[in-house]
Amino acid sequence: MRNIATILFVLFMVCYRAITRISLKTNDKSPLKIGHRGAAGYCPENTLSSFRKAIELGADYLELDIQMTKDGELVVIHDTTVNRTTNGKGRVKDFTIREIQGLDAGSWFDCKYTGEKIPTLSEVFDEFTGKIGFLLELKKPALYPQIEEKLVEELKKRKLTSGDGQIIVQSFDRDALKHFHKLLPSIPIGVLVKNTGIKMISNKNLKAFKNYVTFINPKITMVNKRIIKRIHHYGFKTIIWTVNKKNDRKTLKKLQVEGIISDYPDLS
Ligand code: G3P
Ligand code: CA
Repeated sequence: MRNIATILFVLFMVCYRAITRISLKTNDKSPLKIGHRGAAGYCPENTLSSFRKAIELGADYLELDIQMTKDGELVVIHDTTVNRTTNGKGRVKDFTIREIQGLDAGSWFDCKYTGEKIPTLSEVFDEFTGKIGFLLELKKPALYPQIEEKLVEELKKRKLTSGDGQIIVQSFDRDALKHFHKLLPSIPIGVLVKNTGIKMISNKNLKAFKNYVTFINPKITMVNKRIIKRIHHYGFKTIIWTVNKKNDRKTLKKLQVEGIISDYPDLS
């Protein structure tokens, strides 16, 4: 009896996740809940603990940052150095995978996370595929030649290429996004925009984005009703980052944005 209940629960969760993702396409009014670097408000960012916590809190997607080691492994870390979030020092690109995974990526946040590692993208997919969607940020891709090809290879290997919304790829780097789109056009693309890049959403740019972009994703500090209206008017969806205040969430919900990225995926 217990087994049947467990099977039914798992089936329910799988269907629920699929429906939530599909709603991205059908303009459901409730924005998707996207866990920033997992659940960075509660756990050391971009770690397996952080991703598990985001799922536990009901996130629809994990937002995570991808970079590459000197021996070509895709790793999940935000900064281009390991200095802030590990017990090591140096640039991500100067470490081998073995070296970087020998670092402690948890104790800077809280000693109870001592021993947490910088995960590879592959480890993240191994544990979480099918349980949640992924909003993958190519972080400083110009530092990592062929990182777009590496990501495509990983997605193809795992058959995550259908473009059903399970994977979204975003970046501040438009050249990298264009390149990635050429390699794998089925995957929805998001352009990240911050205040200094307000020109990015000029009419001219918005028209140009039509060729390869699905999402325009501005920083919360630059968002207002007019900007959201323009983004929607040009036919794009939008995901706003990083939203940690209840009032902001409420306003964005009214503006019918498609997704909200938060360090606290349970923010309501
Ligand atoms: O997903 C958007 C947001 O994560 C971009 O900024 O610095 O947190 O990677 P950052
Ligand atoms: Ca990010």
